Amino acid sequence: MTKNKNNQAIWGDRIKSNTSSIFQKAGSSINIDKRLYREDIAASIVHVEMLFRQKIISFKIKNKIIYGLHKIEKEIAKKKFQFNERYEDIHLNIEKRLFQIIGDDAGYLHIARSRNDQVITDFKIWIRSASKKIMTKLDGIIKSSLKLAEKNIDTIMPGFTHLKNAQAISFAHYIMAYIEMFERDKKRFSNNLESLNENPLGVAALTGTSFNIDRNYTSKKLGFKRPTKNSIDTVSDRDFVLDFLFSVSICSMHISRIAEELIIWNSDGFKLINLSDKVVTGSSIMPQKKNPDLLEFIRGKSGLSYGNLFAMLTILKGLPLSYFKDLQDDKEIIFKSYDTLSDCLKIFDEILKNLSPNKKRMLELASYGYITATDLADYLVTNHSMPFRKAYQKTAKIVNFAEKKKKSLNELTLEELKMIEPKLTKDVLNVFDLKNSVKTKKSYGGTSFVNIKKMIMNYKKKMK
Ligand code: ARG
Repeated sequence: MTKNKNNQAIWGDRIKSNTSSIFQKAGSSINIDKRLYREDIAASIVHVEMLFRQKIISFKIKNKIIYGLHKIEKEIAKKKFQFNERYEDIHLNIEKRLFQIIGDDAGYLHIARSRNDQVITDFKIWIRSASKKIMTKLDGIIKSSLKLAEKNIDTIMPGFTHLKNAQAISFAHYIMAYIEMFERDKKRFSNNLESLNENPLGVAALTGTSFNIDRNYTSKKLGFKRPTKNSIDTVSDRDFVLDFLFSVSICSMHISRIAEELIIWNSDGFKLINLSDKVVTGSSIMPQKKNPDLLEFIRGKSGLSYGNLFAMLTILKGLPLSYFKDLQDDKEIIFKSYDTLSDCLKIFDEILKNLSPNKKRMLELASYGYITATDLADYLVTNHSMPFRKAYQKTAKIVNFAEKKKKSLNELTLEELKMIEPKLTKDVLNVFDLKNSVKTKKSYGGTSFVNIKKMIMNYKKKMK
């Protein structure tokens, strides 16, 4: 075992036999956490710079270590680095290689730190930039949604409650409802940046260190606002992991909701939207089929996000302080959630660009289900000074009458309407016009064309 020191585990002098090979394989995380190599090297460089400034290591050793780390970074980037499962993770793989490159001086690198603070420093930096990347993708989706909305301000369709025709809306207003959700998603990821702002580096294994380190310096250099305040909490804390997973879950839930809705609207029963050939797939047996597989794919992925959130919550439940191997799984979980959401966002953007409303069919469907009934009730309140409940009753009678006559509301004659409410005059007939119905919903946040135009303008300014 001592013959080739560099080939043995870091703890080879203490633990005399090799760890069980099955565990070496299963317990190694290198295939997952090698993704953190850039963050790991950046944090190590800042760490040795700090050690030098604090007169803990010499100028020469600092430079040697930094030289070696840069070399390793290039090797990894060029895929010339040999990762080894025996060295467990990215931190030890890099440290081992540093010994090969610069010799025993590599041993100064790990002064005043442990893998426990090292891994979460890397991880926080990684999640910070992943959050920003998701926010950029959400911006792309908001822009595509705005384009679709802008083209469809006048596209009238039924708005649904309980999936029954409820009241007339503009298709643009519907699309813009999702913009609100994506804006909230962005805000959630951006709020998380605050909890990612505390620097773990320097708390070492769990107690802090006897070396005179400067955690404010490393915080500043690594883009954190301040150092974490309690060393035990620092190595145990994975709240920032949960925050990210929760935000991913909500965002994928939003995508799942719109995907479901679009699947329904694309069905042969509804036919409210068309999907271009780019975003459908065929069937192996039914030659006529065009299936919305992409929408189904993104609808289903919320299951994975929720699962990952619950996996992490469960890992943390009842886990005593401070570091345990249980925590190592956090990376696989986050990477999977991030990759999946990134793919879903890209796919969804593609769908938005390849989707068009079937305007004729939307209007046709809106003429069913007496969707201007509420407009009639409102009209009675305004023009015949009725309390709303009375107006509601009168309107219900008119709807029942129309149903019996197998007519829609706009097919009723003034004479028929007057049989139920004698005070009615000719202008009531405008109330059944769908465009008029949408136009009147001018209250702030309502579906009126004027409101929508303003909202689109506001968002376009904001997105510039
Ligand atoms: N690969 C480990 C992880 O991700 C790094 C921390 C290891 N610490 C330890 N005490 N074994 O959790």
